[in-house]
Amino acid sequence: MTDKTIADLIEDRFGLPTEDGRDMPANGELAAILSHRSHRRFKPDPVSDELLRVVLAAAFSAPAKSDLQQCSVIVVKDPGVRAKMNALVASQDWVPGAPAMLVFCGDNRRIRKISEARGKPYPNGHLDSFLNCAVDAGIVLATFIRSAEAVGLGCCPISVIRDRIEEVSDLLGLPDNVFPLAGMGLGWPAQKGWVSLRLPQSITVHTDRYDDSNLLAEIDGYDRRRDSRFATPPEKQRMTKEYGTAEFYGWSEDKARQYATPQRKQLAGFLASKGFGLD
Ligand SMILES: Cc1cc2nc3c(=O)[nH]c(=O)nc-3n(C[C@H](O)[C@H](O)[C@H](O)COP(=O)(O)O)c2cc1C
Repeated sequence: MTDKTIADLIEDRFGLPTEDGRDMPANGELAAILSHRSHRRFKPDPVSDELLRVVLAAAFSAPAKSDLQQCSVIVVKDPGVRAKMNALVASQDWVPGAPAMLVFCGDNRRIRKISEARGKPYPNGHLDSFLNCAVDAGIVLATFIRSAEAVGLGCCPISVIRDRIEEVSDLLGLPDNVFPLAGMGLGWPAQKGWVSLRLPQSITVHTDRYDDSNLLAEIDGYDRRRDSRFATPPEKQRMTKEYGTAEFYGWSEDKARQYATPQRKQLAGFLASKGFGLD
């Protein structure tokens, strides 16, 4: 038992005082969700096939649009394929140290094959089909993270695989109407990790009508709360050649710099080449 309450965990997560959940003990599923953290450093111990299957069974218990279940997961086991995957995400120095790797895919192929096998047309190959399978894969991915954490494993998604989406897709033999949403590094955590501060509900939750009139002031407060917990050292600032070394380098400056150069412009072309209609 713990004397901590859910309110304490919410305070840890947002860095703001709250009385919400003060009378709720900090245990059970809610406490685990509030304590989520990505893990990128792992012990060398393997994850057994059985445990992986258990975690995947829980992950695939996620809800799915129209019960279509449009997610597929590739478990990367062959050392040669794994080495190639590691090389394709070379910017992620932590990936080779993850004992297990998976790739979560949006899969609009199955329903198309089923329609064909049942002698029915599939006149829905437009943007909504892409969105539905991408969302299904995202929900399975999020449920996988929760399930892995529930058994003491740690993990971190790898969207960087989309920088080399064609090569990843070819390497994994992904057919038409299947696309890789994100990889996942998985293992037994070597470190406790840390709770990463989230944006306040004052800007992420709206009542009745969207309102971001106070956005920049709220972001400024968030930047400062984050900085007081984990300041970014000057050597970790991005694009200092272009934008200099900022005296105060908060989350918003980091994200604005991150998105100041084009990324993954080839995605629409790749998806179109795989048969996804994006109109
Ligand atoms: C779809 C998705 C893709 C991600 N891709 C990467 C990635 O390529 N590399 C990485 O280090 N972290 C990646 N992350 C992890 C995020 O950076 C992390 O969730 C975020 O910083 C918040 O930290 P937390 O998960 O510890 O709360 C990804 C997360 C998600 C949900």
